[in-house]
Amino acid sequence: MSDIRIELAKTLKEKPTDESKLGFGHIFTDHMFVMNYDTGEGWHDARIVPFDDVSLSPAAMCLHYGQEIFEGLKAYRTADGTVQLFRPDENYKRMNVSAERMVIPKIDEEFMIEATKKLVEVEEEWVPHSDGASLYIRPFIFATDPYVGVRPADHYLFLIILSPSGAYYSTGLNPVKIYVEQKYVRAVRGGTGFAKTAANYAISLKGQDEAHEQDYEQVLWLDGVEQKYIEEVGSMNIFFVIDGEVITPELTGSVLPGITRKSALEVCRSKGIKATERRITIEEVAKAYDEGKLDEVFGTGTAAVISPVGHLKWGDKIMTINNNEIGPISQMLYDTMTGIQWGKIPDEFGWTVKIK
Ligand code: COI
Repeated sequence: MSDIRIELAKTLKEKPTDESKLGFGHIFTDHMFVMNYDTGEGWHDARIVPFDDVSLSPAAMCLHYGQEIFEGLKAYRTADGTVQLFRPDENYKRMNVSAERMVIPKIDEEFMIEATKKLVEVEEEWVPHSDGASLYIRPFIFATDPYVGVRPADHYLFLIILSPSGAYYSTGLNPVKIYVEQKYVRAVRGGTGFAKTAANYAISLKGQDEAHEQDYEQVLWLDGVEQKYIEEVGSMNIFFVIDGEVITPELTGSVLPGITRKSALEVCRSKGIKATERRITIEEVAKAYDEGKLDEVFGTGTAAVISPVGHLKWGDKIMTINNNEIGPISQMLYDTMTGIQWGKIPDEFGWTVKIK
């Protein structure tokens, strides 16, 4: 793999002054990482260049058949001013799993970690300074061949763009309202549910739209066969605390293997909290609620961090969780994860990586 060529922008954009108003994913930094793939040559011409539009043929295959994969991670400014990433190795490992499923050429994971560190180093000034804000990192690969037949492409672009961001949900750490989707499904056995690919998100929009009409933020997806087992929310994995036990749906192939999900399980287990991955039905959750045993519900994700769920709607049944307040396990996980990410507590797991 070649070195990374760097071409700096001649003029720099104004950086946001009020970090409390960043929102999520609206603002982009001055530079981006780009790399090409051509069959026969492999990945080549890695470069950091000024952020700009990408020129594509209207026939580019990604536009027609959605051969695309992406990742999401963040850079955090710690109290001593240094900047660090959280488990970037896990992102690039998962990207290769997604690549395999979508017949996209694999990447060199070590090289991509180095490229990410380099890009963030170039954009270090863009890493927010305030609590809860970070630099969201979006690596993605898409097919560019000008061809409208259906086959895996021979040409791809790999880009990384950066976006200074605050909380994913406008509610911040306040509990979100989730609606159990009963009409549409997100993924099916043998499908692409475990891959981080655009189609999984496109397919979720209709349900999300209908949920919004009812004043709910997101939908909770059930399995695509019986619509009985809980899967995930789409922008985050889901956890239940029932009678003191932390339970999350197991990875059956239709659920995204979230890195925050994996980390939350490891944090719980390190603190002696029973944390189980298993199939769980919506009936079981509703029954636990009726019996007063549904202590907490929360989502986990890179963008969402730890997001408590205050209301869970299933048909006509509306479950109000923990008085619509953040519960002790969600709070502990939020404090531990963000504490490690922002360097406020020691990283006993060895998850953080300094950019230089
Ligand atoms: C992330 O959490 O990084 C994701 O990719 C989810 C996306 C819906 C923002």
